[in-house]
Amino acid sequence: MYPVHFLESTDSTNRLAKELAEKGEPHGTAVLAAMQTGGRGRLGKVWESVPGKGLYCSIIVRPEIDIENYARITLVTGVAVAKVVEEVTGKRCMLKWPNDIYLKGRKCGGILTESSPVMMGTQEMYAVIGIGLNINSSDEEFPEELRTTATSFFMESGGNYTIREVFAKVRDQLLADLDEFSTAGFTGTLNSWRKRDYLFGRWMECVGYDGTIIRGIALGPDSEGRLFLRDEDGVEHGVLSGDVRLAKSRYIGY
Ligand code: BTN
Repeated sequence: MYPVHFLESTDSTNRLAKELAEKGEPHGTAVLAAMQTGGRGRLGKVWESVPGKGLYCSIIVRPEIDIENYARITLVTGVAVAKVVEEVTGKRCMLKWPNDIYLKGRKCGGILTESSPVMMGTQEMYAVIGIGLNINSSDEEFPEELRTTATSFFMESGGNYTIREVFAKVRDQLLADLDEFSTAGFTGTLNSWRKRDYLFGRWMECVGYDGTIIRGIALGPDSEGRLFLRDEDGVEHGVLSGDVRLAKSRYIGY
């Protein structure tokens, strides 16, 4: 039995889980909240948590993997979450590199992986995997600016779901898949990820930290977890992080 901290409300389950991980809480410990007042997304973005309508959880993991493999944890999590989304909704779930969960071309969830600040000596190493999923929310419950891009399990399937049940499935699948990743390697994850690649073959752009934009056709992630794209001169670029979106046009400057 893995420990679960259930909360009515917190600012961010990731923040709390990191605090618990620093105090030594074991592999598999989770924080689950009915609502968040300061949910965090990737690249400093805000994660909107409709109260009582979504899954907002963070899971502490201490996998037996090298530091270099930590960068792949988000992709392992994406596949684990996608399997559960498909099982419970009966709908095909797609993944947008590196951390977005998609249903029918709209975002229904995201992953925020944060690693231990001290990466020395295996004892202290951990990652906190934050998972947000829009489950029972309807369109009008999202902030206006998200209404054309966000979706939920309910909106795509018409069903209502027990959030704790979805949580238990996600945690169990994630821990099983991480275990397989640490023993068998990344190839299985990569193959499953590529089958659900939302961007593959589409014109996209990646905005780096310094504001530089690379445009090209998405070729999918490689064995390191980097996203590859081919620009219009045929040059291939690998990106390890950055904001990725579909391009409005394949032509640079338009
Ligand atoms: C993203 O799409 O940019 C990632 C979103 C991650 C949201 C989840 S909700 C539970 C956990 N706690 C947080 O503050 N963020 C993650």
